Amino acid sequence: MRYYLTNCRVATMGTGTPYGLIDDAAVAVRDEHIAWVGPAADRNPQPDERPVDLHTRLVTPGLIDCHTHLVYAGNRADEWALRLKGASYEEIARRGGGIVSTVGATRQADHEQLLATTRARLELLLAEGVTTVEVKSGYGLDLETELRMLRVARELGEAPDVDVVATFLGAHALPPEYKDRREAYVRLLIDTVLPAVAAEGLADAVDAYCEGVAFTADEVRTLFESAQTRQLPLRLHAEQLSNCGGAAMAASMGALSCDHLEYLDDAGVSAMSAAGTVAVLVPGAWYYLRETRKPPVDALRAGDVPMAVSTDHNPGTSPVLSILAAMNMACVLFELNPEEALRGATLHAARALGLDDRGAVEPGKLADLAVWDVQSPAELSYSLGHNPCRQVFKRGIPRSALTA
Ligand code: NIG
Ligand code: FE
Repeated sequence: MRYYLTNCRVATMGTGTPYGLIDDAAVAVRDEHIAWVGPAADRNPQPDERPVDLHTRLVTPGLIDCHTHLVYAGNRADEWALRLKGASYEEIARRGGGIVSTVGATRQADHEQLLATTRARLELLLAEGVTTVEVKSGYGLDLETELRMLRVARELGEAPDVDVVATFLGAHALPPEYKDRREAYVRLLIDTVLPAVAAEGLADAVDAYCEGVAFTADEVRTLFESAQTRQLPLRLHAEQLSNCGGAAMAASMGALSCDHLEYLDDAGVSAMSAAGTVAVLVPGAWYYLRETRKPPVDALRAGDVPMAVSTDHNPGTSPVLSILAAMNMACVLFELNPEEALRGATLHAARALGLDDRGAVEPGKLADLAVWDVQSPAELSYSLGHNPCRQVFKRGIPRSALTA
């Protein structure tokens, strides 16, 4: 399969110009990959390349949502209503609500139910030009349900229109049956659940929630050491509601990403900077929790820490199913500029997932591309509730052909 996208502008996400933008551009695609990109005047299409006229539209890398909890049953609208009346997320969690209430619903849902509801949510992300999604477990918190969630994530990834990166998040919360037996639960994860997940090849990475309401940095470190013996990369929910030193610990272990980071301190920034760990910003959770403390964006910039942007879709703190909305919130709430927001949902999101084969329009990268009916790339994070995505190519194949 060979074709040649013409009559377009391309935000390559390379450096040199803002967005790596090329006007009057062309992109040659060969099978799954980008073969060439540049000013159209610089290269004539080859005889076997079919030209595709994009009518001056903007081409970007396919968007990447690098932090989601997309697999779960039920919803938490009731808890949200309580929070609107003043109850805090931590209070609700300590009273046995929060994550644990979604765990109850998810344990009761079978594979087919989880698959159907998750695919429906995934469709909404895909409609906005998303071509790669990370999906976490963490609403099972027992062997059987954690495996079921990850099998659902794997099955979703078999669809031709999306790649799914599956992350094991068994250390998301203490399950009710292990209340007051923290050590035993961490041992269960290390001795039983993680080995089973690894044996079935169900996870591409291991995540944990390091927080007062969840796990300590020492508990997480023990789990991470075990993940590393299985060559599984690490990521961490860190410094969301307080500073627990999780980010510095995870970065010192070479974690791919630390996510949330509202309470990240200078030591955490330095550790992430030294390790090349990506900061995944999730403004949806910040917005829904009506937080006031923002992640230290200026310090992250100064430390050259790549910032990714994600929906953190989950039923509790971020029922957001729009990567464009997350990009908008990253700008309005966290003061990223629109270029940083797009980089955060493309190149830096790829890096947060340890994927160097995507996230930019560059020869050799996967031909995961989104085509937008906008004049300038800033429009992608400008509007709320408007989806200008007109076409998507996944591994070189137009999505219409994939879903027809
Ligand atoms: O990323 N912070 C912890 N985990 C999720 C919340 C999950 C939930 O409340 O169900 C998050 O915000
Ligand atoms: Fe999360």
